Amino acid sequence: MTDSTKAAPVTIEAEGEVALIRIDNPPVNATSQAVRQALKSSVEQVLADRKARVIVVYCAGRTFVAGADIREFGKPPQEPHLPDVYNVIEQSPVPVVAVMHGTALGGGLELGLASHARVGIEGLRVGLPEVTLGVLPGAGGTQRLPRLTGLKPALDIIVSGRQVAAQEALDLGIIDRLDSGDPREVAVRMAAEVLGGTLPTRRTDQIDLAPDPDLIRAEAERLAKTAPNLFAPHRCVECVEAATRLPMAEGLKFERQKFRDCMDTPQRAGLIHAFFAERAVANVPEKSETPREVTKIGVIGGGTMGSGIATSALLAGLEVTLIEVQQDGLDRGISTITGNIDGAVKRGKLKANKRDQTLGRLTPSLEMESLADADLVIEAVFEDMGVKKDIFGKLDGICKQGAVLASNTSYLDVNEIAQATSRPEDVLGLHFFSPAHVMRLLEVVVADKTAPEVVATGFALGKKLKKVAVRAGVCDGFIGNRILAHYRKSADYMMLDGASPQQIDAALEEFGFAMGPFKVGDLAGLDIGWASRKRKAPTRPAEERYVEVSDRVCEQGWYGRKTGKGFYVYEVKEISPNPEVEKFIEAEREEKGITPRSFTDQEIIDRYMTAMIAEATRVVEDGTALRPVDVDAVFLFGYGFPRFRGGPLHYADRIGAAELVKRIETYAQEDAHYWQVPELLRQMAQDGRTFDDLNKER
Ligand code: CAA
Repeated sequence: MTDSTKAAPVTIEAEGEVALIRIDNPPVNATSQAVRQALKSSVEQVLADRKARVIVVYCAGRTFVAGADIREFGKPPQEPHLPDVYNVIEQSPVPVVAVMHGTALGGGLELGLASHARVGIEGLRVGLPEVTLGVLPGAGGTQRLPRLTGLKPALDIIVSGRQVAAQEALDLGIIDRLDSGDPREVAVRMAAEVLGGTLPTRRTDQIDLAPDPDLIRAEAERLAKTAPNLFAPHRCVECVEAATRLPMAEGLKFERQKFRDCMDTPQRAGLIHAFFAERAVANVPEKSETPREVTKIGVIGGGTMGSGIATSALLAGLEVTLIEVQQDGLDRGISTITGNIDGAVKRGKLKANKRDQTLGRLTPSLEMESLADADLVIEAVFEDMGVKKDIFGKLDGICKQGAVLASNTSYLDVNEIAQATSRPEDVLGLHFFSPAHVMRLLEVVVADKTAPEVVATGFALGKKLKKVAVRAGVCDGFIGNRILAHYRKSADYMMLDGASPQQIDAALEEFGFAMGPFKVGDLAGLDIGWASRKRKAPTRPAEERYVEVSDRVCEQGWYGRKTGKGFYVYEVKEISPNPEVEKFIEAEREEKGITPRSFTDQEIIDRYMTAMIAEATRVVEDGTALRPVDVDAVFLFGYGFPRFRGGPLHYADRIGAAELVKRIETYAQEDAHYWQVPELLRQMAQDGRTFDDLNKER
């Protein structure tokens, strides 16, 4: 074949009746403006040449087009628009075949859907994940997919955004053929098949689609209940419904309008920020260091945390030695891990035939000496500095040179722990979140003497465990728990000043949190916060306002869900407010001379979020977090922060630094100790800068 025209990043290779069009836009062949332009003109050029009788589009690199270039979202759209490019392909008088490998997602799959036949290469995954980014398939996906698969599977794929494996894609009629080999080779073969009449082609817009109003109504009703806060999923259903009654050209117009509506929402910006946040946190000063090899890990402590960490490591293929001091503790750990692994099988996270092999990598032991050959040890015992120092002192004598020694402490000083060893450069914090085999956040806590390659090893382990690892500095509570300890108080203050725990929970659930703070406390166990308050009592500043209601609740032995009572009462299937709590609140108000006032739901949200943002700003200001986006990632992946709001500091940019300063100053008139304006926020307000600006600068 001869190479006739090059239009980087799209190349045409034409010989005789066959034109191969190759997209090459690393890393994921996203349809940037340059790709759209070049793809459109390449197809137009092949058609103008009038020689080709078949066109095959394929991609270079690791994947077929993985979607539109989402870095362009939110900027003024530039022509040609993707739907126009795909219309040229659909209307081409010469059949176009898409040969897809890797992940054909979003605009990538839509390129396939507009083609006249689709061939998948083994391992292909397809999907329309736009809804997870706050938009909808805006290049024909909602109009063409239902025509190929029928309404039900299309609705499911579009509304869930899930990825579909190759065989299912074949079964559903999304692809016409499943093949194997190098994409170009397959492209050449498929061109021959089209010419030979063995690979049929057809235009998707000419396929009829039967309406099904009941199905559409049922899906709309389901979403009204399950996703009332979200914008895009509802628009997806409207578009699919439109496909059942409008001709393609009008359906595409309808879809385009809804796509633009989604594009204009803050939810789109929040969800795309969340997508990039997950990736941005890997950009740490130690990223070019070579991590140490880790295949064998030790976990000390078989409680909920230790067992969760061990489960996560086993699922990632690591060998795990679990240490406990007593046989019954070890047995409990083994049983928790076994339950977790069985749960993973049930949820489809682990193949049933891999269960025994996975558990076979676990070595339980009562001897710390069993950790002599571990590459990395994670201590996950209870939060007591004396106990931790004792363990690290022992590890220092037992572990091989070069082993990484990590503590899963939630707030203790990792520098002090490191001093218990003769090798502080090998010590760091690896703070998991409960349940550790499910929650994706991992705080990598870097102490003063931690060696850069040990930090890199923490990040490499995080990646292996499929966690979102975030670099944090040493302070009480690191990034997440330090911010939580601060803003959680604002909920108690509002409770004492007149809002009920139920109103506060409901307002914050409406904002998008899966659970309000009082329900979360009940779930996590109120004794945890109680212990922390008692620990901090001796150093609590005299000016700090202190609310005693939670202490009164705990004194009754009511620790929340696990004891059947907390701020709520838990009966078999019912949850109701605990009437006793109201009495504690009233008694404390009376004692402190507080006259309750009413709060609007918006005021609750504003105060709670402003408190969170204030402490988050201080965490960025003093370097505990590298950038605002790191704080966002911590809250998105560890604290159930509503993803569509992008994280606390992304949300803060929607409010603006000046307004936040104004709010804090207003609230400070009631409590000047709690409500202090962080210097960084004041500076940002003065300079008109945003947290996003800081993300770009740091
Ligand atoms: N646009 C721009 N950049 C993208 C991108 C996209 N659609 N998808 C991935 N990238 C970037 C990532 O940010 C990352 O960049 P850095 O290396 O600078 O961090 C790089 O490509 C590699 O991505 P991953 O690290 O995620 O690589 P992976 O191999 O783990 O995963 C993937 C690859 C499965 C394609 C994954 O990146 C992914 O899911 N991407 C998003 C796919 C998507 O949502 N597509 C729909 C876009 S919206 C759309 O298409 C609208 C429409 O209808 C027109």
